[in-house]
Amino acid sequence: MKKQWWHDKVAYQIYPKSFYDTNGDGIGDLRGVISKLDYLKDLGIDIIWLSPIYPSPFADQGYDISDYYNIDPRFGTMHDLEELIAEAKKRNISILLDLVVNHCSDEHEWFQKALKNPTGEYGRYFYIREGKDGKEPSNIRSYFGGSAWEQIGDTNLYYLHLFHKKQPDLNWENPVVRKEIYDMINWWLEKGIAGFRIDAIMNIKKALPFHDYEADREDGLADCRAMLNENDGVMEFLKEMRDSTFRRYHAFTVGEVFNEKKGDLSEFIGEDGCFSSIFDFSQTVFGASEKGWYDNQPVTPDDYRQCCFNSQKRAEGIGFLSNIIENHDEPRGVSRYIPEGECSDEAKKMLATLYFLLQGIPFIYQGQEIGMENVPFDSIDQYDDVSTLEEYRVAQLNGLTNEQALEAVRRYSRDNARVPFQWDSSENAGFTKGTPWLLVSPDYPANNLKRQFTDPDSVFHYYKKLIALRKSEEYKDTFIYGQFIPAYTDEERVMAYYRIGEDQRILIIGNFKMAEQEIKLEQPYRKVLLHNYETVSGNGTSLLLKGYEVVVLEL
Ligand code: GLC
Repeated sequence: MKKQWWHDKVAYQIYPKSFYDTNGDGIGDLRGVISKLDYLKDLGIDIIWLSPIYPSPFADQGYDISDYYNIDPRFGTMHDLEELIAEAKKRNISILLDLVVNHCSDEHEWFQKALKNPTGEYGRYFYIREGKDGKEPSNIRSYFGGSAWEQIGDTNLYYLHLFHKKQPDLNWENPVVRKEIYDMINWWLEKGIAGFRIDAIMNIKKALPFHDYEADREDGLADCRAMLNENDGVMEFLKEMRDSTFRRYHAFTVGEVFNEKKGDLSEFIGEDGCFSSIFDFSQTVFGASEKGWYDNQPVTPDDYRQCCFNSQKRAEGIGFLSNIIENHDEPRGVSRYIPEGECSDEAKKMLATLYFLLQGIPFIYQGQEIGMENVPFDSIDQYDDVSTLEEYRVAQLNGLTNEQALEAVRRYSRDNARVPFQWDSSENAGFTKGTPWLLVSPDYPANNLKRQFTDPDSVFHYYKKLIALRKSEEYKDTFIYGQFIPAYTDEERVMAYYRIGEDQRILIIGNFKMAEQEIKLEQPYRKVLLHNYETVSGNGTSLLLKGYEVVVLEL
């Protein structure tokens, strides 16, 4: 595989609104990010992905952009961003912005002009269609619930929004729109950013002409994915975008790609792929029900292992996936993949090790490095996230009591990950001197960075060691390019694999349960590279793994 500058990097996602607030308005800001660069450098981070910081009405927390060339004043100024890029560069850290180009905000100038003249030049920037017999042009449902079509005033015209009605979809079939997007991408790359995380990109290609699909719920609508699955041709747009932008700058791009078609992975992340990498979402979509969150099946440790291993096999010899346990759209990984009641510091460290040493680019989501958990929200009114409110409604519609519906959204809400970062035990976890825009998780007095900093056994210090190991001169080639081979797959609730380098053989093995487990080693080990308990028990040919023990062994 041809080596690329991003292969040996460790990335960190910042959700700026909840990272660190320096001006007391209760909202995190760019100066807050600048002030924490030394912290991130010390942790071992090379790439920062910033969730959107552009002007936005925040109907979907910044993923509804009203001006692609500016910074929302709540986050700071363009000068702040330039300073952030420069300060990051001094520390050898690259900045990625979020590229949200499936849709913009309804408050974007383009859409405002389109509303004034829906059949004119700007009307063609969007998907505007006539209604059918006084109803929407087709029966597709938006991701956030309800029809994906919104009527324009009292006309018979509707515009398409696969997400919130304040997020009209941009018409990628229009070459003028594509040119606008590519110009904007190049403008940012010229500013010195290293690349982009690319939002919701599989949605840009619609199956045209729009038509109805078989309804999948009682509302008579069909999931918009039925429409997306029907089309081909997204790759033409993606390659054109790559050639007009990223490729010229040798930029790093990581796509938010769900369900690419079988066999298409090399087109996405192969040597000549349209992106540098895509996220592996196989664990996050596992067990998801078409009916809604209330019907999702939990992911067991063996399911988790299977998902990771399938993805590793799928990408083998093709390219690099980006590995995560959580992001701003998911609950906390430690609350999701560690069975209920078993979440300890040991278990958190084990999960960290198991996903981090897979082949691919590891991404850490803010707060993950201190083991932040899901939040015990106790009322639906405490939530901000649009999809949480919709899923609560869907659960109620399906006969769940308010308490049961709350329980369901508590497990999956995006707000679990969006609450403020827990810096210390002072008021509001040290996140802001003002009133935080979203609840601060009540566990912050016990779990915060300051406390973990002083405890050498903390999850935080473990993450530092894990990152250092992956980047160490001695082992990095094996962790980055070494072959991946599953191990002990017949054992229940053990997740283990080898990474095999030119002259190194490393075993990563975790006991995904509370009870002890004995494992016969296929060959004796020479050195323990990392572990999450004080001692490793065994007799050279076998290991006695304690509950949620993980060890990284050089054989
Ligand atoms: C992506 C983002 C998510 C957003 C959606 C619409 O999935 O990660 O936060 O709601 O796109 O932009």
